[in-house]
Amino acid sequence: MGDRLRPLISARRIKKRVRELAGEISADHRDGPLTLVIVLKGATVFAADLMRQIGVPFVIDFVRASSYGKAARSSGAVELSDAPRLDIAGHHVIVVEDIVDTGRTISALVAALQKLGPKSLDVCALLHKPVPGALPVAIRYKGFDIPDAFVVGYGMDYAERYRHLPGVYRLTLDADRPPR
Ligand code: IMP
Ligand code: MG
Repeated sequence: MGDRLRPLISARRIKKRVRELAGEISADHRDGPLTLVIVLKGATVFAADLMRQIGVPFVIDFVRASSYGKAARSSGAVELSDAPRLDIAGHHVIVVEDIVDTGRTISALVAALQKLGPKSLDVCALLHKPVPGALPVAIRYKGFDIPDAFVVGYGMDYAERYRHLPGVYRLTLDADRPPR
C-alpha cells in the first residue's frame, strides 16, 4: 500500500487567506523599498500566489535552506546558501516561508539576513506547526496554525513528492502504520 494523504486545508481556503495576507503586506508597506526573500523550494508555490496579490512595488530574491533532507523529522542542522549575496541593505524585507516547525530554519535565516542591514525584517509563513521545544519565532504574516502532523502539497514535499498538490494534506507514511 502507498502513503496516505488526508485533506487538511483546501485550495479555496488557501486562496482566500493568501489574498488577506497580501492585503496586509500591501497596507503595511506603502513605503519601499520592499524585498521578498523566498525560501526554496517549499515556499515557491505560496510566494507565486502571494506576490500576484500584493499591490505595492517590490522585488524578489531567493535563498535555499534545508534541514530535512529525505526524512520527515527535522535533522536539527540548518544549511543556508545564497543568503550572504542578497542585496537587502536598507530594504524592508519579508522572508516568505512555507512552514515553521521547530523554528530552526527561520531563526537561522533571520539571523543571517539581519547581518545584511535591512531596514526591517519580518516573516511571512503559510503554516505554523506548534511543536514542543520549538524556538520562539515572531511570524508577522501567518496563514494558518496546524496540528503537529507532517504535511505536503502547495509547494511542500516529502522526499520531493507532492509539491504540485493544490491544497495541503496530512501525510501518513506507510511505514508509520502498525502492521496487521
Ligand atoms: P523547522 O526548521 O523545523 O522550522 O522546519 C522548517 C522547514 O522544514 C520548512 O521550511 C519545511 O521545508 C520543512 N518542514 C517542516 N515541517 C514540514 C512538513 O510538515 N512538511 C513538509 N516540510 C516541512
Ligand atoms: Mg522549507
